[in-house]
Order: sequence, then C-alpha cells, then structure tokens
Amino acid sequence: MKVAVPKETTPGETRVAAVPDSVAKAVAAGLEVVVESGAGLEANFPDSEYVAAGAKIAASAEETYRDAGAILKVQPPSDGEVVLMPRGAVLVGILQVVRRPELLEGLAGAGVTGMAMELIPRISRAQGMDVLSSQASIGGYKAVLVGAERLDKILPLQITAAGTLAPGRVLVLGAGVAGLQAIATAKRLGAVVEAFDVRSAVREEVESLGAKFLEIEVASAEGAGGYAREQSEEQVAKQRELLSDRIAAADLVITTAAVPGRRAPLLITGDMVAGMRPGSVIVDLAADSGGNCESTVPGEEVVLGGVTIVGIPDLPRTVPHHASQTYSRNLLNLLVSLLEEGRLEVDFEDEVVKAICVTHDGKVLYGKD
Ligand SMILES: NC(=O)c1ccc[n+]([C@@H]2O[C@H](COP(=O)([O-])OP(=O)(O)OC[C@H]3O[C@@H](n4cnc5c(N)ncnc54)[C@H](O)[C@@H]3O)[C@@H](O)[C@H]2O)c1
Repeated sequence: MKVAVPKETTPGETRVAAVPDSVAKAVAAGLEVVVESGAGLEANFPDSEYVAAGAKIAASAEETYRDAGAILKVQPPSDGEVVLMPRGAVLVGILQVVRRPELLEGLAGAGVTGMAMELIPRISRAQGMDVLSSQASIGGYKAVLVGAERLDKILPLQITAAGTLAPGRVLVLGAGVAGLQAIATAKRLGAVVEAFDVRSAVREEVESLGAKFLEIEVASAEGAGGYAREQSEEQVAKQRELLSDRIAAADLVITTAAVPGRRAPLLITGDMVAGMRPGSVIVDLAADSGGNCESTVPGEEVVLGGVTIVGIPDLPRTVPHHASQTYSRNLLNLLVSLLEEGRLEVDFEDEVVKAICVTHDGKVLYGKD
C-alpha cells in the first residue's frame, strides 16, 4: 500500500507528517512511502534522508497523492488537496473538525476516510498516538523560552559582587501537558514557580516539579478523560479575583488553561494586565481557542502599559525538527495499529478508530452519535 506524505500547504506550517526515521519503520512494516520533494525541508529533513530511509520522492503534489492508500498530513487539507486524494484513501492528520465542518463534507464527498488525530482518546493503549500531548509538551517548553527572551529580567537568582538579583517569578495557569512542561522548564531556568489548575488532581505533579500549587478556593472541575469540565462564569470570575494578586506579582505568566471543544476560560482581564509591572510578560498558549487573557491578539505580540502579551499560535511550529519527530511517531503508531495484511483496516469495533474516524464511505460520521 502506498503512503503519501505531501508538503504542507498551510502558510506558516513548518512541520512534516513523516520524518526519515518514521519512514524507515513504515517501509520495514511493508509500506511503500512516497514523499513530496521538499516536504521536510523546513524541518531540516532533506529529500536525500528520506531516500536513504527507503522512500520515493515525488516531484509534485499530484504525483504524491496518485494511488495513495494512506495520506499523512499535519494540517487539514485545502479544497485543492482534497480533489487530488484517491477515493477510498485514508487521510490522517490534525483535521480541526470542530472548526472545519465544511472540510468533513468535502472529504465525505471525495470518498476519503478522515482520521482526526486531535480526537485520539486518552487511554493507555493510545498514548503513543496522542498528538495533542506530544505537541503541547513542546509548546509548554517553548513558551517559557519565548517569555524569558521577552523579559527585562533574568530568571535565576544571581549573587555577585555587583549585588543580588532575586529570581524571576513565573506563574503557570493550567497544569496539563503544556503547563507541566512549562513548570519544569521555568524551574530549570532558576525561576520561582507557582501554578494553578482547576483539576486538583494535578497538585502532586506540580509539587513534584518543585513548584507551588496555589491554594485558592475554587471548586475542582475534573471532567471526563483527564480533561477539565467547563466552569460557570461565576466560578471563573471568582478564580480571576483570587488569582489577581499572584498575577500582579509575576514576572512571567504562562497560560495554558483549556476545556476541549469550548472557548478557553478568561483568566486575565485587561484591568489585571494593567495591574502588572511594566516589563512583565504573558505567553498565552490558549490564543488559538479564544485566549486566557483578554488582551491577547492571536498570532501577534502586543505591548500594553509595558506588559508584553504573546499570542503565537501553534508554538511547536517554531521547533519543527523535534515537533515533526514526535508527531510522525504518533502517526506511525496509528498506521501500524491499523495494518492488516498490508492494508489499512477501518474497524469500528476498535475504540480508537471509532473515536477518530470522522468520514467514511461517503458519509460524515463526526457528531452523528
Ligand atoms: N493517554 C492519557 O492517559 C493522557 C494523555 C494526555 C493527557 N492526559 C491527561 O489529561 C490532562 C489534561 O490534558 P491537556 O493538557 O491536553 O488538557 P487541555 O489542553 O485541555 O487543558 C490544559 C489544562 O487547563 C486546565 N484548565 C481548564 N480550565 C482551567 C481554569 N479555569 N483554570 C486553570 N486551569 C484550567 C485543565 O485542567 C488542563 O490541565 C493531563 O494532565 C493528563 O492528566 C492523559
């Protein structure tokens, strides 16, 4: 079966859905892999490395997609890409189904089976396929570096003949995958780190990384599948009030708070930004889903009253080599789990397939049960 790896066409996307290492493993599993020329260039994987791993290089998108049984992508395809997909092919990628219902109609019309990696269930067996975790972990790390770079202070304590510099104060809101990685990174840089999450279950993890879990009186909001549940506006307002002095005291605030399928909770208002020290920084990892800070402009960096608010979406794109490496491994793990005598078996008895398969046999399945 032919597996196609086209070059991403979404502006700003630097990652690639297969790297030479994942290609070599797919070839060893009996698959024929065709990579569009230049697909890995922005992530610094040249065509020659794909060839050495056993892939064929296609000169154009048309040639890449031709006769493909599986198509591996990072971003959802454009309409122009969907028309190139052979009927019956299985498309695997972050399809952003919540935001792109029209794409599902297009895929169903083209007879393509869509598998949305953002819907991988959080069960032990599927951990190796969890793209949200692999990418969030990189995003959490990079958020701290971006924030530290924008700060007018250094993060570690420094005691020298020229005097003592107190360590920087970092506050992390939302201690899921990205938040925990942000805490670990900020600690390594020498900051004093505080964190808060509405899932009180993460307290131990926060403390084990050497950060302080803030004691504020907000009801725990554990939801299904390890995620948070949406809180009432009243509860979020209470949370804002109770966090306001910690936000004002922080040099760097990293926000990662999210509730699947909902707008991100608004944890920092414009007034709270105005209460921060000029020179301090907010990095809002929830920028894509509405932002945790009222002043965040998705895709931009703004300075208000001397406070820098960074709303770069999809930070893993800024680390494309490693982000592609983990993303491609997630896809390979799924592909291998679906292989049955050299072909992909779409078995709806399989919990993972049932959760991620959004179009099949000309029909849209997502949101239908
Ligand atoms: N396969 C698995 O078993 C598996 C894989 C990955 C993650 N998980 C679990 O899922 C958890 C969450 O994952 P995620 O990081 O992708 O979640 P996410 O990106 O949906 O949310 C990020 C964090 O924001 C928190 N949050 C939501 N509303 C908030 C608010 N008002 N204030 C403060 N924090 C708020 C959430 O509790 C979560 O920890 C992980 O910590 C882990 O326990 C399990």
